Amino acid sequence: MPGGLTIAVLLTAAVVLGVVGLWKSDLGRRPRPDLTTLAGSRLPEESPLAGSLSCRDCHPGETAGHEASGHARTLQPAAATEAAHAIDGRRFDDPALPGQSWSYRIEGSRLVAERRENGEFRSRQLLDLALGSGAHATTFVSLSPDPAGGPLSGLEHRLTYYRHEGSMGVTPGQAAAQDQPGRSPDGFALSPARLLDCLSCHGTHAAPASGSLRPETFLPNVHCERCHGPAREHVRRAEAGIRSERLLALPFGPGRATAADQIELCGRCHRLPSMVPAESIVPENAALARFPSVGLVQSACYTRSAGQLRCTTCHDPHARAASAANRYEAACLDCHASGPVDPATEPIPMRQVPCPVNPDSGCVGCHMPAREVGYGLRFTDHWIRRRADG
Ligand code: HEC
Ligand code: HEC
Ligand code: HEC
Ligand code: HEC
Ligand code: HEC
Ligand code: HEC
Ligand code: HEC
Repeated sequence: MPGGLTIAVLLTAAVVLGVVGLWKSDLGRRPRPDLTTLAGSRLPEESPLAGSLSCRDCHPGETAGHEASGHARTLQPAAATEAAHAIDGRRFDDPALPGQSWSYRIEGSRLVAERRENGEFRSRQLLDLALGSGAHATTFVSLSPDPAGGPLSGLEHRLTYYRHEGSMGVTPGQAAAQDQPGRSPDGFALSPARLLDCLSCHGTHAAPASGSLRPETFLPNVHCERCHGPAREHVRRAEAGIRSERLLALPFGPGRATAADQIELCGRCHRLPSMVPAESIVPENAALARFPSVGLVQSACYTRSAGQLRCTTCHDPHARAASAANRYEAACLDCHASGPVDPATEPIPMRQVPCPVNPDSGCVGCHMPAREVGYGLRFTDHWIRRRADG
């Protein structure tokens, strides 16, 4: 299609969508998602969620840690991100499609992308959402409301911002042949179900049992209530002065979950063994390092510690994965002490096996090395084991 005609079609579609969107929201039905709700503080009275601003006063420590972590920045309006500012005003060649290039501009609160082929204009997209804090990468998604009022679908942008390179590269999964269904030079079409998948792992209660996106009950990011469950009633009671532990208990609270329950909670997003092909769960597969909850449960540390090893043995779930190896090594040494063991004082009663190579330090570097998982990204291998390259 020649460029001019594309623009005309897009403009007409945009006007129609805008009008339909307004009309729908007037009727109080599926309004066009309003990106300002991504601030996460405008939940309606009847939502079971309390929202992101309501925990701070009473739980300042968890809130401060969480706000500094990737969980709090994994789904944002595109134009607000560090990645958008890094590419604003720049042009990038598509590394895999010769002659094709993209340029980016922040226009007001929008990030706009334009594609050219051999210098000739081809398409223009509004990039609505940014997935990924950019610790590793940020991928942009455009939202497409269904003119007939059906569920939202989307387009995963062709290029992704890789922070270690400070540049745009092909989005993971899109390098494969262009003739696969859903792929085009603009990106990868996200059906309503796939879009919902992305938002479910990068957001909170995207679709409470309804099967389609409910902007009015949706909170961006892995918010407190994603792990702990809806907390509006908790806040109401606590504000009313109730202090009974039973009445303040949340669906997921401290000290009640087994290791397996907790790994299931984290693994719904960080992946569970049932979510990856069985043949990919082998020590040689470096890419498995991207899925910590799949690797960890293969370890003898997990299978032979009678339910003592869980994600929070090493991680504070409210904080960044600390870069201080000491905290992790302290966890190793709780179970693998090198000195004589006094069963009365040992926190975790089980057979202690010290390391024959270095019983005191350096555990993570040798037994949980970072591995390259593709696209130049490195993740920590959670399949703790002896390694030939030890
Ligand atoms: C709703 C999905 C979801 C759940 C549940 C979840 N995570 Fe995450 N987690 C993510 C996403 C998405 C990221 C990537 C964040 C980003 O964009 O940087 C992430 C990142 C992380 C990081 C690295 C981020 C940092 O700031 O260092 C750690 C560590 C982590 N998760 C641990 C956990 C643990 C432990 C649990 C369970 C207690 C858990 N996660 C549960 C989705 C989830
Ligand atoms: C099954 C849950 C799940 C789904 C579905 C999912 N993600 Fe993620 N995503 C994660 C988790 C967990 C992480 C953090 C670990 C990692 O980077 O793999 C993550 C990380 C990312 C990152 C890198 C963040 C960073 O800087 O570390 C990007 C970008 C991303 N996802 C984009 C997407 C897009 C786009 C989609 C939909 C097409 C999507 N994700 C679907 C769970 C999910
Ligand atoms: C990624 C999942 C996750 C997120 C997000 C999360 N938490 Fe937690 N939180 C946990 C887990 C897991 C525990 C229990 C740790 C344990 O069993 O010791 C916990 C424990 C707690 C506790 C009890 C602490 C204690 O020691 O008694 C409070 C209070 C809490 N979280 C509040 C919050 C608040 C407030 C937020 C948002 C700012 C939040 N959490 C976000 C997973 C999460
Ligand atoms: C008005 C004060 C107040 C507010 C607001 C509040 N909490 Fe609490 N919360 C408490 C008190 C009091 C307890 C019980 C004592 C304790 O563990 O600190 C508690 C306990 C918890 C626990 C442990 C629950 C359990 O099952 O054992 C979690 C998790 C938690 N809060 C999360 C949250 C989250 C998430 C929010 C925001 C949506 C929030 N709280 C808002 C006062 C509050
Ligand atoms: C909750 C306790 C616990 C923690 C924490 C723990 N381990 Fe283990 N680990 C075990 C148990 C139990 C075994 C199996 C011992 C046996 O053979 O009976 C084991 C086995 C191992 C093995 C031998 C695995 C094999 O393939 O034979 C290595 C290596 C190891 N652990 C290293 C570590 C390192 C490094 C850390 C910290 C990053 C760590 N462990 C943390 C309990 C733990
Ligand atoms: C035995 C200790 C240990 C346990 C248990 C553990 N982790 Fe980790 N995790 C680490 C270490 C070490 C790092 C690397 C931290 C750094 O870079 O400083 C890490 C990093 C991460 C990261 C950041 C991305 C990466 O790969 O570097 C995520 C996400 C993560 N862990 C998730 C989890 C989840 C989910 C669980 C539970 C299934 C879990 N971890 C259990 C030790 C552990
Ligand atoms: C320089 C690399 C290196 C460091 C540092 C290191 N290990 Fe090891 N570890 C190895 C190698 C290699 C083996 C396998 C030795 C063998 O099979 O003879 C091993 C074996 C083990 C075993 C299995 C012992 C058995 O008899 O089954 C455990 C447990 C272990 N290490 C834990 C740790 C802990 C905990 C730390 C930190 C205090 C640590 N390692 C530090 C390289 C290292």
